[in-house]
Amino acid sequence: MKHTDIITVLQSEPSLHEVTIKGWVRSFRSNRFIAVNDGSTINNIQCVVDFENFEEETLKNITTGAAIEVTGLLVESQGAGQTVEIQVTKVAVLGTADPEEVKLTILSPKRHSLEKLREQAHLRVRTNTFGAVMRLRSKLSFAVHQYFQENGFYYMNTPIITGSDAEGAGEMFRVTALPATNPPLDDDGNVNYKEDFFEKETNLTVSGQLEAETYAMGLGKVYTFGPTFRAENSNTSRHLAEFWMIEPEVAFCDLDGNMDLAEDFIKYVVKYALDNCQDDLAFLEQRLLDEEKSKPQAERSDMALREKLNFIGENNFKRVSYTEAIEILRNCKPNKKKKFKYIINEWGADLQSEHERFLVEKHFKCPVILFDYPADIKSFYMRLNDDGKTVRAMDVLFPGIGEIVGGSQREERYDVLLEKMEKMGIPKDELYWYLDLRKFGTCVHSGFGLGFERLVQFVTGMGNIRDVIPYPRTPGNAEF
Ligand code: 4AD
Ligand code: MG
Repeated sequence: MKHTDIITVLQSEPSLHEVTIKGWVRSFRSNRFIAVNDGSTINNIQCVVDFENFEEETLKNITTGAAIEVTGLLVESQGAGQTVEIQVTKVAVLGTADPEEVKLTILSPKRHSLEKLREQAHLRVRTNTFGAVMRLRSKLSFAVHQYFQENGFYYMNTPIITGSDAEGAGEMFRVTALPATNPPLDDDGNVNYKEDFFEKETNLTVSGQLEAETYAMGLGKVYTFGPTFRAENSNTSRHLAEFWMIEPEVAFCDLDGNMDLAEDFIKYVVKYALDNCQDDLAFLEQRLLDEEKSKPQAERSDMALREKLNFIGENNFKRVSYTEAIEILRNCKPNKKKKFKYIINEWGADLQSEHERFLVEKHFKCPVILFDYPADIKSFYMRLNDDGKTVRAMDVLFPGIGEIVGGSQREERYDVLLEKMEKMGIPKDELYWYLDLRKFGTCVHSGFGLGFERLVQFVTGMGNIRDVIPYPRTPGNAEF
């Protein structure tokens, strides 16, 4: 039997026509009101049954969590909170859910902590919070494609299995088909990867950037949007071992153009969410307010969720050089009073998230783009400035998140790049193809990477990155 999405039914006029919906029971009150949700919207449809007209056996199986099919007349709702409801003429239970077992899960109708929901990640999308987050995640990924496609970029897919370490940080997961016990060894007693599947060492990619650069050198403007993997032992609310990254790469574009692109892109996707996800955002905004009620005043957000998202769209990001930022940090109160875990003493220090968040949340009170970082704390491929000690790097810092984007103008000069790779111990034989780009029509080019989950965190107001991806991978956790 053909059925209609609940989102469509809820937007319909009370036509008195017959409709059929299918979904999962959220609650069944007074043997009369069934609240049903099918995931198409955060809103449930109320289905009203006249219990005298239905078999007791059927009614008994209409329990929280069960899958049902309902047919009835769409009428004006008598109750508050919805405009239409279904006067049930037919109801069938498609899949039962034993109340005794449901009671032990997060499907039971009471408040469950986000930690508890994480333990039952296969069921959590049926909660209001996760339904809303995952619908937003989907809409945001559509907006990402729409933005780039409307602006002349080509979508490309970079390899997931690779022989290179794009960031040069050595945080890779090895990919091998060799046996774990007694693998073949070479003359020096090391594992002999020449006998492995690819006849070399391979790993999961940490970034598609290097391959994206090769395509920008032919297609002009490209972007990737794919999974990336980092074996960094960071157990924080902003790190995943498997996350999705969006990486545009643009030929004939310098760092200023790169900053303009990052800012315009982020504003676009945030606005898209505001325009297209009102119901879910309203729910998440209230959720955040409720959650923050239990926090001390100083830790609560200054703005409600949608106000914060509007603020992003309407205000310029503040662009500040690393050198300026260090001056601000050196002289700021928390640094002088030794409130930071890492005290900023001198130029050259790497910035920790406490520093980034101070700049964004306390000092500038708006998104900040830091640029021109010391060469020593950044990756090998970034373009060296004329001062010989800084590189054309940029990080976009966001309130509550810290770094949301990392990017740079790329070193396009063959000799400079080669020297840098040698100095930093980057294997130039492995990356001959990357060096080749600098030999055949090299040009100024730039790009950046945006961590998709950090964007989803920002837009949904979720505090922990594990709660914006269906099945988070973190140190010690690869369940499901
Ligand atoms: O700053 P990162 O390491 O930059 C790169 O990978 C460059 N190759 C990007 C480029 O220029 N094409 O990572 C980029 C972004 C970060 O700003 C952050 O948002 C996100 O990726 N990110 C993570 N997100 C979740 N979990 C992790 N472990 C992340 N590491 C980085
Ligand atoms: Mg970075």
